[in-house]
Amino acid sequence: MATQFDLVVIGAGPGGYVAAIRAAQLGMKVACVEKGRTLGGTCLNVGCIPSKAMLDSSELFHLSKERFQKHGIKFDGLKLDLAAMLARKDEVVKGLTDGVRFLFRKNKIEPVFGAATITGPTSVRVALNEGGTADLEAKHILIATGSVPVALPFLPFDGKTVVDSTGALSFDRVPEHLVVIGAGYIGLELGSVWKRLGAKVTVLEFLPRITPLADQEMGELLRRSLVKQGLEIHLETKVTGAKVEGDRVDVRAQKKDGSEIAIACDRVLVAVGRKAYTGDLGLEKLGIAVDPRTGKVPVDAHFRTSVPTISAIGDVIEGPMLAHKAEDEGIACTEILAGKAGHVNYETIPSVIYTWPEMASVGITEEQVKEKGIEYRVGKFPFLANGRAKAMDETEGLVKILADAKTDRVLGVHIFGPKASEMIAESVAVMEFAGSAEDIARTCHAHPTLSEATREAALAVEGHAIHS
Ligand code: FAD
Ligand code: NAI
Repeated sequence: MATQFDLVVIGAGPGGYVAAIRAAQLGMKVACVEKGRTLGGTCLNVGCIPSKAMLDSSELFHLSKERFQKHGIKFDGLKLDLAAMLARKDEVVKGLTDGVRFLFRKNKIEPVFGAATITGPTSVRVALNEGGTADLEAKHILIATGSVPVALPFLPFDGKTVVDSTGALSFDRVPEHLVVIGAGYIGLELGSVWKRLGAKVTVLEFLPRITPLADQEMGELLRRSLVKQGLEIHLETKVTGAKVEGDRVDVRAQKKDGSEIAIACDRVLVAVGRKAYTGDLGLEKLGIAVDPRTGKVPVDAHFRTSVPTISAIGDVIEGPMLAHKAEDEGIACTEILAGKAGHVNYETIPSVIYTWPEMASVGITEEQVKEKGIEYRVGKFPFLANGRAKAMDETEGLVKILADAKTDRVLGVHIFGPKASEMIAESVAVMEFAGSAEDIARTCHAHPTLSEATREAALAVEGHAIHS
């Protein structure tokens, strides 16, 4: 006999586990099926958390090597213990995935470890990791199976020499020369990690700029900064082939002008995007269409697929593949299932690239404002003129605010600078309340803080920044 639930969630990533917790809070009996050995999905196990652990550790190493002297801190014999750095990262991951396990117990959510297939509008079969199968019946099924890396057909992942992000989070030695294919989030974050730890890093990007979706001015600032940090970046470069021989890879690429480049390296990170992971769920049999290119499942405004009892959230549906977007959808979706007014405001989902300096943004870019034909004003303020940034010796970058010329409503905020990831939250809140640049300009900001740069950029929209 199948066990009965109100909701069966498939996938325990930030979309699925948050949805499970919110559903339990709303009084539902919930099971969450996860085919991995731990909870937390891509984000906690092999994504956001371990990558940020390595970014933070490698930044400390870089600072102690290159920047501490300027602060009057001197020492001899600095050494990298990569094994210890990786072990710390693994501990951080374990602490957080165990934390989700604790939250499941607290909220009486049943974790089921195994691979799920949807066998009917209200039924799920799980091939249990420990052997055997389990049948679950539910009033609602929620697909939150996330995404997987896209491979290049001529350069398949081998887990050691040619790797995806998971492999690049655990190299057992610092590569001599790491070639990164794709100058997006993963390529730039993990390229930065290994550059700081001593590798030569060459990034090959197909398009004429890095981070193609970002505000162009900010993307260009980031590119220049990374080049200054020693990353070699080739734009408009198409990888045409590669030969792997033991520990060496010969990568061939073609520039837009037709010239060929050949790079001999010892590690390749392929970071050309991710694809929704929907293949093994049995959706075709249920008549649920899947986009053949992206693997994504179409849903309506209430996250329902074409089968009304089956919903989907997170990386498997339209929109940016970001953990906080998946979480918000998990909450909204389960609130709707419980008869409440769940909602996600897609206009105010921030995005952050955790390089150093960081690049964070919310709302639309200057290019999009122009495309939409909106009359706008722009205010900018450089960190060079911010007291706290000076005190920290972190003066690179700027805050840029785009506001509607008629209403002054904030349309987009783009920050390239120190701790931009933390700073962006203020602008997200202002945009969530449909606030204006003047609202930010008239808000008292503690001194000395980096966030004063946001206020000054807002003042600059009116043309009267105080400190520049
Ligand atoms: P996932 O987290 O992918 O979880 C899906 C889960 O479903 C997985 O655990 C999988 O094992 C399970 N599953 C799949 N199929 C089945 C099945 N049939 N049965 C049972 N279980 C199944 N986003 C950010 O916002 N900030 C960041 O800093 C960030 N950094 C990242 C760094 C890296 C290296 C990577 C790869 C991604 C990063 N992301 C980041 C993206 C983020 O990880 C994803 O957007 C997020 O995890 C999506 O959440 P999800 O719940 O939709 O899916
Ligand atoms: P991405 O979409 O961010 O970047 C891929 C890059 O590869 C693009 O610039 C693209 O033009 C380029 N590209 C595609 N095909 C290519 C080819 N054949 N040769 C050369 N370049 C090519 O994808 P990425 O970095 O793999 O990350 C996947 C997703 O994971 C991101 O889109 C993001 O949603 C999420 N993520 C988020 C992070 C964050 O929030 N900080 C960090 C890491 C990942």
